[in-house]
Amino acid sequence: MTIQFKWAEFFDAQDIYEITDNAFIPNPYSLAQIENELKNPNYRYFIALEGKRVVGFVSYIQSIDTLDLTELAVHTDYQRRGIAQNLIQKSLEFLKPFEALYLEVRSSNFKAINLYTKLGFKKLNMRKNYYSNPEEDAIVMELKKDVVIISFESSADETSVAVVKNGNQILSNIVATQINSHQRFGGIVPEVASRHHLEWINIVLNQALKEANITNPHEQLDAVAATYGPGLVGSLLVGLMAGKTFAQINDLPFIGVNHLAGHLLAANFNRGIIYPAMALMVSGGHTELVLMEKPGNFKIIGETLDDAAGEAFDKVGRVLGLNYPAGKEMQELSKLGTVNIDFPIAKTTGTYDFSFSGIKSAVINYLHHEEQLGNSVNKNDVIASFQKAVVDALIQKTDLALSNYDVKMLVLGGGVAANEMLRNKLEEITSKHKIELNMVPIRFSGDNAAMIGAAGYQYFIDDKFSDLSLDTKPNLDFESLVDD
Ligand SMILES: Nc1ncnc2c1ncn2[C@@H]1O[C@H](COP(=O)(O)OP(=O)(O)OP(=O)(O)O)[C@@H](O)[C@H]1O
Ligand SMILES: [Mg+2]
Repeated sequence: MTIQFKWAEFFDAQDIYEITDNAFIPNPYSLAQIENELKNPNYRYFIALEGKRVVGFVSYIQSIDTLDLTELAVHTDYQRRGIAQNLIQKSLEFLKPFEALYLEVRSSNFKAINLYTKLGFKKLNMRKNYYSNPEEDAIVMELKKDVVIISFESSADETSVAVVKNGNQILSNIVATQINSHQRFGGIVPEVASRHHLEWINIVLNQALKEANITNPHEQLDAVAATYGPGLVGSLLVGLMAGKTFAQINDLPFIGVNHLAGHLLAANFNRGIIYPAMALMVSGGHTELVLMEKPGNFKIIGETLDDAAGEAFDKVGRVLGLNYPAGKEMQELSKLGTVNIDFPIAKTTGTYDFSFSGIKSAVINYLHHEEQLGNSVNKNDVIASFQKAVVDALIQKTDLALSNYDVKMLVLGGGVAANEMLRNKLEEITSKHKIELNMVPIRFSGDNAAMIGAAGYQYFIDDKFSDLSLDTKPNLDFESLVDD
């Protein structure tokens, strides 16, 4: 006979009591206690039935957004049939929304601990001598509700949609890049970019849904996130409108995400960020030192006064006849060259500020000078020397920030985070300062929607939802994300 599951009613009290009598010796429950709990709306009993016979139950106490699993019992004649697992799984389907579910289990009860682990519970802590008869420690376990977010990114020249679970597990991440269309112009052409986004957004969206097996967005997803700035207005509009529309059609909450928060929180795909943290944000448009005192909090302590680090790579690359964007190719060419030219990095008055426009001029001057002298120039030496100068400047200010701020971790994010020399030097200075280093995995360093899903999760936890009237903010910075 098949087993059915349902929420218990008052008249099930006697049957539930009989299960406790069968499962627990001595039985800590009384019929009156179970009857009282069934009358109390904060107590919930979910039962397994074979025909009319109650064969198992799980009980919960519910508070505002958390649950406690108080008991789980299956009649001895019905064990080893997956009923316990089904009781929990099926009851949780009905118990949404909750944020976390807790339970205590005897530390020697490996069978139960294994079952809970299989269901996604994690050990939280120990309670010493929690049980009596016999006296024993309890292990407290926690189950966090999964948060699945679909995210849209289209701020520059990548059209991307991702589905991300709990801010760190990628169910899909589709990126359509337009680099080929822009290369012949040596940079992004805004009008061309927005047209490509329009052509691609639905294709990318459908692919992202398909790969993540999302067939019923309203049921399977918890929110929609989309980049609303910074970036090119025509590009931003496409992803933002797509995200807002998707949220509206599927009746899901909407979250407008700061692209820069995405670049930094993509480090969560490597491992969880430990706060307070310092972050070095290095991309095509931004170079900043950002203090992250607690989750969701970003404060710029230093930034570039002119060009961004990635921009410097791209501009110097262009002078040397390389394709846009040049950073990756320059890194490879630098390995064939020698650092033998001293390119000065401009001094800045702000303690943690950067300046990279001077080095671009220094490279151009050097090339002209050598040309005038009739000397042949080894391009790879120029690249290796340039790269060293840029990385040194980044390292110097980061080192200073780590000396003056008491942080537990350094986070690295943004497209230039792919640079090997930078990564190696950051290893050195963080080990010198004895703090953790959390670098975005290289494949998530450039623009992608998964990083917007990682940031969207943080916004979700912090209850930072947006109205559907949210507009693009091409010049958005981190200020909107500091709350003291
Ligand atoms: N290995 C590398 N070394 C140095 N620079 C690199 C490397 N790989 C990529 N870059 C640079 O990273 C930049 C692209 O980064 P990203 O996609 O984060 O920038 P963006 O999205 O255009 O700007 P922003 O995020 O500031 O709006 C380009 O300037 C590129 O040259
Ligand atoms: Mg970017």
